Amino acid sequence: MQVDLFIENSVAMLTLCNPEKLNALSASFVEMIYEKLVDIESKAKVLVIFGTEKAFAAGVDINEFAKLDYEKATLNDFINYKWERVLNTKIPVIAAVQGYALGAGFELALASDIIIAADFSVFGFPEINLGLIPGLGGTQLLSRLVGVKKASELIMTGDYISAQEALSLGIVSKIVEKGSLKDEAIALAQKIAKKSDVGLRLAKEAIRLSQNAPLSQGICTERTMFRSLFSTQAKIEGVSQFLKK
Ligand code: COA
Repeated sequence: MQVDLFIENSVAMLTLCNPEKLNALSASFVEMIYEKLVDIESKAKVLVIFGTEKAFAAGVDINEFAKLDYEKATLNDFINYKWERVLNTKIPVIAAVQGYALGAGFELALASDIIIAADFSVFGFPEINLGLIPGLGGTQLLSRLVGVKKASELIMTGDYISAQEALSLGIVSKIVEKGSLKDEAIALAQKIAKKSDVGLRLAKEAIRLSQNAPLSQGICTERTMFRSLFSTQAKIEGVSQFLKK
């Protein structure tokens, strides 16, 4: 079990690697991910997350559930802020999904800003088959993304969807052939990394706000953010270069 972080040209590539267990997310595996990402904002402009050949991640490590009852899960703060590190990352995050993205693996992808997927990938929330529901934001993130009806169907049946269906639902931005996932994800990350870092941060913050705030508040905050970018070097140079052309 290991987590690798490699940074090049402002793009951080995080690879989750526990293929024998399909990258099942145990507390110790999540701790390793958290440690790698703890100060990622100061090291990179874009983060790309990769899994292994067969799985992005097949959910929470089910062995952990056997040890827990309600009391222990509450007192031990099971699913704490460390599990939310990707969701709370301030730089753009791309999930490069190959194979299974189930349960918390699907949630990790949903916590990212953009998902691109290998054509044979599979997404789903099988928790209901264990007498559970998603616990890392899945009910909230999926409902906002695809609507309450489709999210209810997926969460209540535990059925999986293909990469093609995920594309048609707007979950996935792009499907690529298995062999080109890494190159495509890195190319996308490099394209984004060339943009203004402050612009990217505020774009992410504003887009996230659209999922939480009333429209009037979102538009008002966006306007303030837009104006605040007027003093950045990227705006000054970008506008003057355009006008010189
Ligand atoms: N937790 C713990 N172990 C898991 C796991 C999980 N979420 N998902 C897979 N694994 C383990 C399997 O137990 C198996 O371990 P073993 O070789 O020691 O027996 C190994 O990973 C390979 O999985 P396996 O089931 O043999 O692969 P498969 O190709 O036949 O099936 C899945 C793949 C994803 C369909 C199947 O592993 C599965 O249903 N996993 C659980 C998914 C789930 O319910 N996730 C949500 C949890 S909340």
